[in-house]
Amino acid sequence: TDDVQVIFTPSGKRGRVARGTPVLAAARKLGVDLDSVCGGRGICSKCQCSPGYGDFPKHGLHVDADALSPINSVEERYDRVRGLKPGRRLGCQAEIMGDVVIDVPPESQVHKQVVRKAASERVMEMDPATRACFIEVAEPDMHAPEGDFQRLAHALESQWGIAGLRADREMLRALQPVLRKGGWKVTVAVHDQGDGPRLTALYPGLRETSLYGIAIDLGSTTIAGHLVSLDDGRVLASAGQMNPQIRFGEDLMSRVSYVMMNPGGDVEMTQVVRDAMGELARELAGEAGIDTGEIVEATVVCNPVMHHLLLGIDPVELGQAPFALATSDSMDLPARELGFDAAPGARVYILPLIAGHVGADAAAVALSEAPESREDLSLIVDVGTNAEILLGNSTRVLACSSPTGPAFEGAQISSGQRAAPGAIERIEIDPETKEPRFKIIGSDLWSTDPDFGTPRITGICGSGIIEAVAEMRMAGIVDASGLIGSAAQVGSARCVPNGRTHEYLIHDASPDGPRITVTQGDIRAIQLAKSALYAGARLLMDEMGVDVVDRVVLAGAFGAHISPKHAMVLGMIPDAPLSAVSSAGNAAGTGARMALCSVKARRAIEAQVKRITKVETAIEPRFQEHFVAANALPHATAPFLELRK
Ligand code: FES
Repeated sequence: TDDVQVIFTPSGKRGRVARGTPVLAAARKLGVDLDSVCGGRGICSKCQCSPGYGDFPKHGLHVDADALSPINSVEERYDRVRGLKPGRRLGCQAEIMGDVVIDVPPESQVHKQVVRKAASERVMEMDPATRACFIEVAEPDMHAPEGDFQRLAHALESQWGIAGLRADREMLRALQPVLRKGGWKVTVAVHDQGDGPRLTALYPGLRETSLYGIAIDLGSTTIAGHLVSLDDGRVLASAGQMNPQIRFGEDLMSRVSYVMMNPGGDVEMTQVVRDAMGELARELAGEAGIDTGEIVEATVVCNPVMHHLLLGIDPVELGQAPFALATSDSMDLPARELGFDAAPGARVYILPLIAGHVGADAAAVALSEAPESREDLSLIVDVGTNAEILLGNSTRVLACSSPTGPAFEGAQISSGQRAAPGAIERIEIDPETKEPRFKIIGSDLWSTDPDFGTPRITGICGSGIIEAVAEMRMAGIVDASGLIGSAAQVGSARCVPNGRTHEYLIHDASPDGPRITVTQGDIRAIQLAKSALYAGARLLMDEMGVDVVDRVVLAGAFGAHISPKHAMVLGMIPDAPLSAVSSAGNAAGTGARMALCSVKARRAIEAQVKRITKVETAIEPRFQEHFVAANALPHATAPFLELRK
């Protein structure tokens, strides 16, 4: 017969095709994931594959040396000009002449899986909404007065089978010069997340580099972004900046009240946050050495108030019960509407919201950590100005947010500062001598001498203040109620009076340098923050009907730096064996990246959000009870942790 058998690895997909079928066409027919940007013209090399020869007993197949057609002139030219790895063939040129086994290397798969660099072993699934297609467009003809866009759409349909292309006005404005510059050969970026294809960018000739997207974690205090290759999910640049809305109010509720008191205040806040996002996009592009016009997509995760302010929706309803969201669904809109520089038709996907106080940032954490995929019960805490808390397993997932305030970020702490070089990030206090030893950001050394090495000590960051308070508790400098003792009570000259209370002096270089202390006010601020966090977690545990959890995951840029031991000494998180506490890094940012790289991930979180049970802390009387009960600093000694095991 004129049929031959073809087996693709690693997918294991197999079938029969007519002798003479190109490998790329066979892959399409059998549903094998083999990439192509040039549409089989032998110029993009995305379709590279490795044929195997000899005996394949597992498949009951013998592959002859002439199972593929000899290298043709197109392939020969590509190999001469660009070089092909030994054994590689261009799938669009090599024709199948006999039974064959063909391996598709990871870089030739569109839907490849990319291992994350983070400690966790999870993989990043590639299933991007935007793909690049090289097309040859018919030149204009006075006798066939079709528009350039119509001929382009026609070319996409006949050369790629993608019908029904749409383009918005901004894209049409950019269209004509590029078509001419490319000599009617162009690479189009086509966005489709199930709602039909849209033209989002156009590049002259064959675009050989990948398309880029940015994943933005829009927090109330900081805005962080990653520039990601949509080819393989790699992060090419990361940057962050302060949220300029801070000048309208440190926390979310004060920003909502700013709007209530200043009509039109939301417009100002919308403008500044969009400007900052634009700035971030430029910074990321600059760092990665690309043009902002190469950014074709973005995803955004944020809390509900930031969400509304970004979209230009008055957040006033979020400031009062029943905390109604204007919309809780995910959104897909032109990047231009949010005012940042990107490709002319670039799209922005905003993850869905869980509830009035539990936003797309919590949804992103749920996407990244996937508690519903596990049998054991996970408590996931994303620590920030607001803490997002998830509790769940394969049966049920609950979520709430808790207003912890900015203390954990080093704000409203007397010697507090952002996590930057010079900040104390780790501290130990000797229980006998009450003397501190610390490590500052920017140096790998532990030291008791603040003037030792560089950079110079400047303050205490969030993780540092948590350790400081916990260490002070373990060293007997503060009691269970959070009161700092006097020098006589504690037996240390570092406990100095400050008004009617005392403070613990870590370092004094005044008047020329910083004077770094932990004051009674600092301890109170940490007590309030940690009580809010703990109460939120307890509330979810009540709702779930459990007293213990199997694992605790600390998430968030900040959560990643918290020492689990110190968090537990403070009673920030419920007691659990230390080995059951792990850090997930910036899980919201990871969720944003996953959604950027994969339409499947978008659909997954949209479905998951509908199944999550929301628990509203603001109106729940038990939250107040837990909050008050959690005020004490429960554990004076670290060994309790070991005893529990
Ligand atoms: Fe582009 Fe084969 S598909 S080289």
